[in-house]
Amino acid sequence: MMKSGRQIARGSVTAALWGTLSITVVAQPPYTTAQANAGEIEFDRKCAECHEPLDGFPRRAPALFGADFEDRWRERPVRDLFVRMRDGMPPAGVRPTGDGFTNVLAYLLRLNGQSAGTVPLDPLSYEPLFAP
Ligand code: HEC
Repeated sequence: MMKSGRQIARGSVTAALWGTLSITVVAQPPYTTAQANAGEIEFDRKCAECHEPLDGFPRRAPALFGADFEDRWRERPVRDLFVRMRDGMPPAGVRPTGDGFTNVLAYLLRLNGQSAGTVPLDPLSYEPLFAP
């Protein structure tokens, strides 16, 4: 039996959807749970005093999660946010050392709803931060 035009059209829509889904999964910058856990401790010690953390009380610096933050950084590469933090933060106080900024960045990815995996975050990657 020949397929009707409608069946063929439905088939290609499904194929197009699957194409989009697999691109979305690949585009997420990877990080591990260990990185994000270490980053959370670092953030609480060295960043939360100025940056609104999850307690909801306003601070002098913008929150590093949520819709406004994601809109500012969505299409920009991972390395832009890393360099912004490494070269400018904190303006006062104790700087993270070693893998500190990489771990904080992994924590920020988790705060913004990205899921952890087995591949560690490369802070100098050109992947977009929050690809749709
Ligand atoms: C003494 C206060 C203070 C501390 C501590 C601090 N920041 Fe900031 N941060 C600011 C202020 C104020 C701004 C906004 C003005 C600016 O962009 O410089 C800012 C901006 C930022 C931005 C840019 C936000 C955006 O969406 O444009 C990032 C990212 C950031 N901080 C990360 C960090 C990290 C990571 C730490 C901890 C290692 C940290 N900051 C510690 C005060 C602080």
